[in-house]
Amino acid sequence: MSKIEVSTPGKLMLFGEHSVVYGRPCIVTAADQRMRVVVEIEKSSNLQLIAPEVGLSNYLQNIDNLGKSQNIPKGARFVETAVKNFFEKYNIRSGLKIETRSEFSSKFGFGSSSAVTVGVIKALSELFKLELCKQELFDLSYKTVLDVQGVGSGFDLTAAIWGGTIYFKTGGEVIEPIKVLEFPLVVGYTGIKADTPTLIRQVADLHQKNESEVENIFDQIAILTEEAKKALMSGDLKTAGRLMNLNQELLNQLGVSTNKLTVLIEAARGAGAYGAKLSGAGGGDCMISLIQEDNRIEVEEAITKVGGTVLKVETNAEGVNLK
Ligand code: MEV
Repeated sequence: MSKIEVSTPGKLMLFGEHSVVYGRPCIVTAADQRMRVVVEIEKSSNLQLIAPEVGLSNYLQNIDNLGKSQNIPKGARFVETAVKNFFEKYNIRSGLKIETRSEFSSKFGFGSSSAVTVGVIKALSELFKLELCKQELFDLSYKTVLDVQGVGSGFDLTAAIWGGTIYFKTGGEVIEPIKVLEFPLVVGYTGIKADTPTLIRQVADLHQKNESEVENIFDQIAILTEEAKKALMSGDLKTAGRLMNLNQELLNQLGVSTNKLTVLIEAARGAGAYGAKLSGAGGGDCMISLIQEDNRIEVEEAITKVGGTVLKVETNAEGVNLK
């Protein structure tokens, strides 16, 4: 076979963002909005990338120069670095055509970079018959993410690879799929795109200035994440909602929430959600609210009324799969 199509889910961070970068646990769920990646072997010496969502109609790079240029467009960095790392690790050299199509905007903070990285490496492993296991897929994808952006825990890769809901510790030290009974969410998009590496650096600066205070916040987030894991596994939505609110308060103290996020979060709580918080790096992107299914419409309307965009997302989606 010389052509493979795979699809990978996006992600939503449920608990533990930022503190996970400092060794604490987090809980992430796979979102059923998917990234599709088609990889084809070509008789050329180029990597050709077609990724319309990120403005690339026909990006070409010679395979002997992968990762070498100073001017790789932002939208091509993860794909090009993933191919380079794969070729280097498995001693492969081949022309390729890669096309990506996403069901979700890269502006939502759903982990499009991680989803595309996993998609490319999974498709290559199938094309070249290497049958990488999930952990090998994670390790090479995580190397790629660190090569491109220098920082990050890698949690979003686990959502893309394993799917479902995962309890995770930085770098894949713990990757534990957990069984969540029922978890109805309403997701609100602020309309503002956040830059994750910038927010990670902002928290790193705060950590450097006030180490003990910030470590204390991380410890509190770690404790509530452990409690949230139990609440999610036993279907105790009231407790999970209360813990979301607590997590949001601690994220506020880290300085990563924004006025727009606060407005959307308060609107959801005011309309009867069990709890609400930002999801991901903060600075914009999305908020999530945990609801009772029978007040979904009220919460959605409240978020829309204050200027948010409600995104239809199912959680616990399937991990990377072949089409
Ligand atoms: C970003 O979605 C979540 C952060 O914790 C970064 C990371 O874990 O890589 C802020």
